[in-house]
Amino acid sequence: MSLDNKQENEEGRSGLGRRNFLMAAAGTASALFSKSVLAAGNGPSAAAPLAPAPAGANQEPLALEGGRPVRATKLGANFPGPLYYDDREKTELMDVLERRAPFRWYGIGPKGGEPRKCNEFERELAAHQQTRYALAVTSGTMALYTAMAALGVGPGDEVILPAWTWYSCYNAIVAAGATPVFAEIDDSMDIDPSDLERHITPRTKVIMAVHITGEPAEMATILEIARQHRLKVLEDCAQSAGANYQGKPVGSIGDCGIFSFQECKTITAGEGGAVVSKDPAIFERAARFHDLGQLREGHQKMLGGAPHFPQLLGGQFRMSEFTGAVLRAQLRKLDRIVADFRDKADRVTKGIQDLPGIQFRKSNDPAGAVGSAVYFRVAGKAQRDRFIRALEAENVPAMTMEGSVILPVVPYIEQKQNPNMDASWPSFSSPSAKALKFGASCCPRTLAIYDRYVGVPMDPTYSDQDVADIIAAVRKVYGAMIS
Ligand SMILES: Cc1ncc(COP(=O)(O)O)c(C=O)c1O
Repeated sequence: MSLDNKQENEEGRSGLGRRNFLMAAAGTASALFSKSVLAAGNGPSAAAPLAPAPAGANQEPLALEGGRPVRATKLGANFPGPLYYDDREKTELMDVLERRAPFRWYGIGPKGGEPRKCNEFERELAAHQQTRYALAVTSGTMALYTAMAALGVGPGDEVILPAWTWYSCYNAIVAAGATPVFAEIDDSMDIDPSDLERHITPRTKVIMAVHITGEPAEMATILEIARQHRLKVLEDCAQSAGANYQGKPVGSIGDCGIFSFQECKTITAGEGGAVVSKDPAIFERAARFHDLGQLREGHQKMLGGAPHFPQLLGGQFRMSEFTGAVLRAQLRKLDRIVADFRDKADRVTKGIQDLPGIQFRKSNDPAGAVGSAVYFRVAGKAQRDRFIRALEAENVPAMTMEGSVILPVVPYIEQKQNPNMDASWPSFSSPSAKALKFGASCCPRTLAIYDRYVGVPMDPTYSDQDVADIIAAVRKVYGAMIS
């Protein structure tokens, strides 16, 4: 396969040079799948040994070019939570039905029982995340809206968020009347701590550290910068329930954390969310904001002492007992799901890490990531797209960076328009907000990173054969793409 000039240039920048690859590929292929190679892997950040040839050398042509695919049938990666549903979710759910107690704060008299699923889920989630308080809400998006209110974010404040994340992060800031300020991501796909300080102004209130696709953000540096500038840190753990950073569960490291339990997340009840914090004032404001400004007795008991705040203006994002029931059962499986994800991701990584020049997604804590995908760099967009098509033709799933959006280039965001709010909305009406530049010019590195990664989604229930097929397909395509 010949590479066009653009790709040759891109190769130069990525370090995956054709000549280097061919020189390195001149070794023997025999040890590729031996136990010793799999067992002796040094992890994703280890330098790639250059001796063995890729499986792509002297092999079957790519399926994309008419060869026989590695797998006869398509391998799909399913969303994890529902794969683990069993009698425990059923029992919890039936309990709500049988006790006729679907509402979290009270039942229906003689026939009904005391509700308890959301209360228990909150207690158990706080314990699991090694923090003091957890608040169950209807979604990750409403958890973000609640967190904005709990952190006192409003008009005149700026919140720094990564250019690569989900709409909910941006929407929550704008809905609070605050101004979103985009920072670049780095090769971990998380917010780049080295890009924070240039965005900090006297108006900055919060840094939103989003733990993207299972990978914890670089919290040590983020916290240090936040401390220096007296800023709050909000951890968005929607895509990373079960991840740790330096041994601490995500969400327990900053001032406040949020989770989503929507279908695609590590554990799920279809929808659902949570806000966590160790700070009683943040928790009280969150509890009030999610429930029309009231503080219910149950939450007051959790807080212990007298309330800090009077009734405030809030919405209604309370979780139902049905959702709480399923999430309670799912939470007990979270560590198992993550262990299964990591097992698959580690084995795939070890099976391809000797490919000459291969560079994996940067990890801020290899032991703490969820392992929901394995990403590696290629030369650029054209090679990425061809690589993905080639893996798919081998019947192995492949993707670009997924699950988020490069927000600054979304047209309504780039133009700072809120179609359902008029131009006087405080987020963009001040001279400083008007001076902010969105669009491609505010996130060139994020755009370049997006073009450079091929991902293989993990499914925690992949079989040994599935893992072996993924490894064989990546090796086959990697070799053929360069030779
Ligand atoms: C980073 C991030 N934050 C927040 C959310 C919002 O979660 P939900 O879909 O539960 O509203 C998502 C959803 O995908 C997300 O990816």
